[in-house]
Amino acid sequence: MNRLILRYSLGVLFALLVSFAAVTVIFHQAIVRKMETQTTPLVGRVFADIQQRLDAASGADRDRILAEVAVELDTRAAILPAHSQRLSERSRARIAEGRTALTAEGMHSGSTALVPLADGSVLAVGPLKPVFGPGFWDYVLMLLVLVVIVAVTATAMSAPFVRRLKRLEVAAVRIGQGDLAARADVTSMDAVGSLARRFNEMAERNQQLLEAQRATLQAVSHELRTPTARIRFGLEMLSEAKEPTKIEERLRSIDEDLNELDHLVTELLELNRSEVPSGTVRESFAVLPVLTALAQRAGEFTPSLTITVDAPPDLSVAAEPHLFRRAIRNLLANAVRYARSRVVLTARQGDDQVEITVDDDGPGVPVDQRVRVMEPFARLDDSRSRDTGGVGLGLAIVARVVASHGGRVEVGEGPSGGARFRTYWPA
Ligand SMILES: Nc1ncnc2c1ncn2[C@@H]1O[C@H](COP(=O)(O)OP(=O)(O)OP(=O)(O)O)[C@@H](O)[C@H]1O
Ligand SMILES: [Mg+2]
Repeated sequence: MNRLILRYSLGVLFALLVSFAAVTVIFHQAIVRKMETQTTPLVGRVFADIQQRLDAASGADRDRILAEVAVELDTRAAILPAHSQRLSERSRARIAEGRTALTAEGMHSGSTALVPLADGSVLAVGPLKPVFGPGFWDYVLMLLVLVVIVAVTATAMSAPFVRRLKRLEVAAVRIGQGDLAARADVTSMDAVGSLARRFNEMAERNQQLLEAQRATLQAVSHELRTPTARIRFGLEMLSEAKEPTKIEERLRSIDEDLNELDHLVTELLELNRSEVPSGTVRESFAVLPVLTALAQRAGEFTPSLTITVDAPPDLSVAAEPHLFRRAIRNLLANAVRYARSRVVLTARQGDDQVEITVDDDGPGVPVDQRVRVMEPFARLDDSRSRDTGGVGLGLAIVARVVASHGGRVEVGEGPSGGARFRTYWPA
């Protein structure tokens, strides 16, 4: 974080120096242009008198005039031949036209005035103290003032930003160290605030997932213990049994317990597979034929039940077909198990989702159990489902499948007083 701030400040400083240099160059050019159009003619007028005196004089007189000028202007004065190497090409061109020239170089050290004399030589007076424009130390001062203003403004503007980023960083570090409940305390409406909200959502989901996993693992260990204890007990009894009928009975009961274990493992694997893997393309398919086929299968072994399907033929959902069928099949299996005489399967287009409802006329789910039944291994009446061999994962699988499609499950009461399970799917 500190490295980032340092790099940012160095970047700003660099930009400042470059722009200052650019401005200075433009300024310099402007002064040179002014000098050519306005100052040079002026200087020509100023030196006209000395020019006349020098033209009239010669030898020692000339030297005396030069010394006088040098003292008066506090600089140097000399007479150069016209072809002198010290004159720039531009100056020479001007002098050839009989005009005064000013050297442009050395803005801060002062330029030299070049005045053509009648005999073809050139009077050079300089360096002349700059008449206008800032000097070297003025530039240093300007740069300093600029740096201070920009530094103060940039710091004032970025400090809250940096503070928020730091808070986000602290939360990330704490989660990294295992504190899953840590959240970034950033509520601003800027980019950092939105990043923090995404971060907190992610942290929340991770925490929930991990807690659910921990709870499932605990429940699994608990569930595994019952059949294994029964098998151990059965084996002990087997070693004591003498009659062939007793032995056969014991073996059958051990086989049943093994079947239960097998079923549990299969269901657990299903639960693990009940989320749409990210990147899978959801298919859009018609609901009616799928529901009809599922209802037919569910009713195969319970001919006394009436299972009706009520869905518009043109209604379709966007879902992973295998998982969709699995969820509805689980709901139907429960309904068929608890219904007295009727199961109704309804699909309809909701506001922006497709609703699929399974109603039965069985005992229903008590209001205070409606959240719990969706959890793994939750069974309302232990003896009731033990008889039918349920492990209590069916609804947990439904919940996961539906959630991974961005939908939800509602548990309620159907029109005939039985259970109602309503699922919401993307259209
Ligand atoms: N239609 C229903 N009517 C009454 N109770 C229900 C109904 N559906 C589920 N339940 C209750 O919710 C519990 C959990 O259901 P779930 O489908 O998760 O497990 P299960 O049916 O017992 O076992 P599994 O589906 O894993 O074979 C059931 O044991 C039952 O007590
Ligand atoms: Mg079930």
